[in-house]
Parts: sequence; C-alpha cells; structure tokens
Amino acid sequence: MSLFQDKKIILGVCGGVAAYKSVELLRLLIKAGAQVQVVMTPSAEQFVAPMTFQALSGNPVRSDLFDKAAEAGMGHIELARWADLILIAPVTANTIAKISRGIADNLLTTVCLASAAPLILAPAMNQQMWRSEANQDNIQRFKSRTSIHLIGPAMGEQACGDNGPGRMEEPEPIMRFCEQLLQQLQEQQSLSEQLKGKKLLITAGPTIEDIDPVRYISNRSSGKMGYAIAQAAYEAGAEVSLISGPVVLDAPEGVDCYKIRSALQMHKRVFEQLDNVDIFIATAAVADYRPVATKAQKIKKTQDSMTIELVKNPDILADVSAHNKKLFTVGFAAETTELEKYAQDKLDSKNLDMIAANRVGRDSNGQSMGFNSDTNELILFSKQQSGEITRTVLPKTTKQQLARELIKEIVVQYKNSHKNKD
Ligand code: PMT
Repeated sequence: MSLFQDKKIILGVCGGVAAYKSVELLRLLIKAGAQVQVVMTPSAEQFVAPMTFQALSGNPVRSDLFDKAAEAGMGHIELARWADLILIAPVTANTIAKISRGIADNLLTTVCLASAAPLILAPAMNQQMWRSEANQDNIQRFKSRTSIHLIGPAMGEQACGDNGPGRMEEPEPIMRFCEQLLQQLQEQQSLSEQLKGKKLLITAGPTIEDIDPVRYISNRSSGKMGYAIAQAAYEAGAEVSLISGPVVLDAPEGVDCYKIRSALQMHKRVFEQLDNVDIFIATAAVADYRPVATKAQKIKKTQDSMTIELVKNPDILADVSAHNKKLFTVGFAAETTELEKYAQDKLDSKNLDMIAANRVGRDSNGQSMGFNSDTNELILFSKQQSGEITRTVLPKTTKQQLARELIKEIVVQYKNSHKNKD
C-alpha cells in the first residue's frame, strides 16, 4: 500500500511563477491516495486559479483567515489539527520569514503555527533573494527545528532571467522526499511506547583533557551520533539522560543533558545518574589518557622537544558494566583497522550486551566517516542468552535514521535478554 494512502496533507501554495508546478504535485498526491486540502496565500491566486486546485483535490480551496463559511465548517485550528503533513510548494522568502519568526498573518502561516504536523518547504525565489543574508538567517533557524524539512531549491535558469539557486524542485523529487518522511514518521510511531517506563543513560561527544590553560588533548567527535540516539530513545518513550562532552549541539527536546569536560568528570556524572537506569549506551569518544598534571600557567616554549606524561583514564563503560551486572550495556567501537575483531574484543573485555562498530577515516569521496559526519554505518554484535553472538548491519544513512534503527535493535535485544525486568 502507498505510504500516502489516506494521509491528510495540506498543500500550501505561495505566490510565485512555480505555482504552476503545484498543480502537478497535487495530481501526484491524489493519485498516490492522499486526502489533500489546498491552502493558498492571497498572492498565489494571482498565479493559478483556485478552481484548478479545487477540481483536482475535490475540496474547496482555502485562502481567507476570516472566511465565515469555512470557519463554520472546518475552522483554521481544526484544519491545523487535521493535517498529518503540511507541504508548502512553492514557498516564498516572505512566507519562510514568517514561519521562521512565528508570524501568523494569513491562513497558511496561521495553520503552520497552530499545527504539530511536520512541515516540508520547497522554496522558489530569485537567486539573490535566496542568497540574501536575511533569507539565509531565516533558513538557519530551521536547522534547530526538527519538524521543518527543506527540499531544494534547485539550481538553474529562473523566470526573471537569472541563473542560480532558487528554482522549486520538480514534483517527482518532492513526492520522493515526502515518501521518505512518511516512512520515518511511520517508524517513529512503531517505536513510540517501546521504551515507555525505561530509563536510559547515554554518553556523547568527546572529552577534553587539559594540558595547561590554553592547550588540551581531545578528538574529533561532534556528538551527532550520541545526540541522535538520545532523541530516538526519547521518541521511543524512554526517560533519557545525556552526559555530554563539549559540543556545539542543542540538547534534544525532552532529554536531560549534563555537560562535562573531562573523562574524570564524565565518569563521576555517569555514576551520579546511574540509579534505576535500565540501559546504558556509551557513544562518547572518551580520551583514553590524560596529562598526569594540568599546568596552572601556560607552558613556555623553552625546549626543542618536550614530553607530556599521560596517565590512563578510567574506562567508564567497563566500570559501569562491572558495577551493575543487571544493566543492559551498549558500547561503541570506532576503529580504522580490523573493525569487527576489535569490536568483538571490546564486547567481551568490557562484558557488554551489545557493541556498535563504526569505521573511521574517509570514504572514497573523501567524506569523513564515523567522527563528525552527518551519516554513519554500524555493525552490531549482540550477546544472546545462549552465549551466541549475532551480527547485524545497519547500512549507511543519516545519523538520525541510524539512531532509530539502533534503538529498534536495542529494544529487541533488551526484551530478549534476562536483564529485562518486565
Ligand atoms: O560524535 P560523532 O562525531 O557523531 O561521532 C560518533 C563516534 C564515532 C564518536 C561514535 O559513533 C563512536 O564510535 N563512539 C565511540 C568512540 C570510541 O572512542 O570508541 P573506543 O573504541 O575508544 O571505546 C569503546 C567504548 O568504550 C565506547 O563505547 C566508549 O564510549 C567507551 N569508553 C572508552 C574509553 C573510556 N575511558 N571510557 C569509555 O566509556
């Protein structure tokens, strides 16, 4: 069955030459089985007649926030609640600015503000408008809002004669984009409640080991993998605490986040938060060593060479699994060589229930893998009650999607394990 079947979609149309493409988009949505209500901004009506959308959708087209007849039927709040998905194609710089700032001065922007449905925006505008500082500032604001998704704009020739970014994506790629999002939402729904009543503790990011007031030892972990796991665990209904090294990410909504700097601080914080935890996931790239002493003053350049004596940091994950044998423990292994062998060694030596192995380095396109990348691939080794080790590959995808796949696997393994108290 099509993922669009019976999905309730608001198709928002803003004023722009690309509005003619929304007619084809509507036709494809209807053909795929969606129920569509079209909401036009007042200026969109200058480009395509509402009657065209009405005929194709089989529903009256809405554009007036103060339409008494419509408000007596499906009012704007009801419309906002009705939607499973809002797709605005084309969306202009003006509507982007309003959505980014929470302005609700017409029916479409009001519905966006009043709806909890995910929002897909397919921008179309002049290339200079797209590049303008004000517009880019508004686009940046969407990055921290997990319910807003952008597709495009595409590059190419524009109606005004310019060439550059600003063309609305074609209807087919927009359909594929919507389909992917619907798939993700379906997976999120199937995951929701799976970890209800469970407490998860997750470590993420790097640790920083100070040498002196200006220098330190650290690594390239961005925290993206750990933060995505925290978000996916929260979506699955868990109570989530995240112990994070210094990263530039915002804590996922609903997750308690504790910031630390060094491995010793992370160790202390983890043990402070360990009460009643059901599952511990160690995604952090903890520095294995720290300087024996941190100098109080900046080290001066007086010698041709120098040696910094290092001492081993405590192994947080190994200590947690030794401290509480009833805890379900998941480790990560980041390796440049012999990935699977080293990962399985760690599963064994740290006495874990599961380990997620990821290769680090650069892929054939020169893109960073594992550390500080937006995508990742994991090989999971899970210890079964029988003692057998199973191997599962989670193929390369975004860290957000991968985190959901990983949480799904953890749910299955945890429920099968003798550590599950249910
Ligand atoms: O943060 P990103 O940029 O998104 O990158 C994600 C990641 C590559 C950092 C992540 O996917 C990952 O692999 N994290 C573990 C990296 C690592 O340092 O692995 P390790 O092989 O050194 O450690 C093995 C396990 O023991 C890890 O679960 C680690 O958290 C834990 N450990 C290690 C040392 C230590 N002193 N204490 C620990 O708890």
